[in-house]
Amino acid sequence: MKKDITSRNDIILLVNTFYDKVKEDPEIGPFFKEVMKVSWDKHLLVMYDFWDNAIFYSGTYAGNPLKKHQHLHSLSALTADKFTTWVNLFTSTVDELFEGEKATLAKQRAQNIATVMQIKILDQGKD
Ligand code: HEM
Repeated sequence: MKKDITSRNDIILLVNTFYDKVKEDPEIGPFFKEVMKVSWDKHLLVMYDFWDNAIFYSGTYAGNPLKKHQHLHSLSALTADKFTTWVNLFTSTVDELFEGEKATLAKQRAQNIATVMQIKILDQGKD
């Protein structure tokens, strides 16, 4: 049986494994490599803090992901398919490494945030 996510070290393993997949993904990878030219050291630190906060309510993240992704979408379109790929990659990474209450919470948080982002970003300009 796999263990649950119980520490910041587990978050670091989850985030590193997920972004190793993201980097290689033909649909999502280019947003990091080409559209934003992300500095991985910095991005990964932000993501450890984000997930630490999302799973353990640690108060480590106070950014505005929606604003960042709205900007990203203005540079290169974020489509529903791309969000589905992102969520599938995240979910399969969690399932590969962990199981338990926090693992389930992480997957729910990812899905919920992806849904809200899509509604706010992809519906813009429809009215
Ligand atoms: C198609 C889906 C997605 C793509 C292509 C994508 C891409 C990116 C990129 C390129 C950045 C770096 C932006 C920058 O440095 O300015 C970023 C940041 C971030 N992403 Fe995503 N993302 C996606 C979905 C999501 C989802 C669903 C979540 C949450 C569950 C998420 C959470 C974050 C967070 C927290 C940051 C850091 C924001 C900050 O700097 O404070 N992303 N994303």
